[in-house]
Amino acid sequence: MNKTITVIKGDGIGPEIVTEAMKVLDRIAEKYGHTFTYQEILAGGCAIDVYGKSLPEESLQKCLDCDSVLLGAVGGPKWDGVEKSIRPEAALLGIRSAMGLYANLRPARLFPQLADASPLKPEIVARGIDLMMVRELIGGAYFGEHKTVTENGELVAHDDMTYAEHEIRRIARTAFETARKRGSRVISVDKANVLDSSRLWRKVVHQVAEEYPDVTCTDMLVDNTAMQLVKNPAQFDVVVTENLFGDILSDEASMITGSIGMMASASLGEGTRGMYEPIHGSAPDIAGQNLANPIGTILSAAMMLRYSFDMIKEADAIEAAVNTVLDKGYRTGDIMSEGMTQVTCSQMGDLIAAEL
Ligand code: IPM
Ligand code: MG
Repeated sequence: MNKTITVIKGDGIGPEIVTEAMKVLDRIAEKYGHTFTYQEILAGGCAIDVYGKSLPEESLQKCLDCDSVLLGAVGGPKWDGVEKSIRPEAALLGIRSAMGLYANLRPARLFPQLADASPLKPEIVARGIDLMMVRELIGGAYFGEHKTVTENGELVAHDDMTYAEHEIRRIARTAFETARKRGSRVISVDKANVLDSSRLWRKVVHQVAEEYPDVTCTDMLVDNTAMQLVKNPAQFDVVVTENLFGDILSDEASMITGSIGMMASASLGEGTRGMYEPIHGSAPDIAGQNLANPIGTILSAAMMLRYSFDMIKEADAIEAAVNTVLDKGYRTGDIMSEGMTQVTCSQMGDLIAAEL
């Protein structure tokens, strides 16, 4: 197959980790007879430096004209002072929205080899962690009206959290479809004891649940979910939630599996085209030092093959290669533990590519 991949290396450690993911994709192409054509674009802080804005039109156009997008990370303290409409994060939100990527899938799975890296007690970790966070990605407080006005002589800031029924229905369907291919259990997370948007969320999720009698559906309040994730993470199969809650809970879910550097994500809309990125940020403190963990990005590339290109055996092969390299004791700094062999970002990429 021939596929065109728009590549956004971005800022901080972005270029380093994406380079390793491309190394792995190139190896897959060679082994399985595919052609991946990369079109590299600037978005985020590096685009502000060159174009004065984080998402130039021609960059966005290349995200719309491709088979999928691979992204490293955007942002950093260098651009903290820029006006919010051109901030690096605005590029990410702009791409998600323009591509219609409403479903963000974030698998949090504990690699048994990394059990020591989890901050949870061994007896909790021993029960296993394997959940799929399904986060709504282009609605809620992120995309509602934002404004700061003066009222009674002081500034008052507003961020509108809005959800329409169709936005909830489509993400709920994604969650139930995902659950069917896994453990057939959906936990829908909301704050229905306080928020109207959550009460509507719950109502629509229950309607959709009726179409999936083979999948169990349970409601859980978001504060309780944050607690249950550290108390008994084994109880979760698929978690579906709105944008802001999903942002927060997915960082928590990733950390209990050992390192945020391991967690991949897929952002999908109606078609097969998606955007794939690790869930961590640009880590400016370790940028340019060949220290970052590229596994979250490499596993994101595997998700691209699985979800957008229907290259199942190729995706399986990447995941197996990651597993083998961990079995052999190779670790980047973030997941390093006693007795293991510490490697750099590029060595980790080489090792995984070599297993293929
Ligand atoms: C994420 C990130 C982004 C988000 C930021 C960088 C805008 O935290 O992908 O989880 O909040 O969605
Ligand atoms: Mg986040």
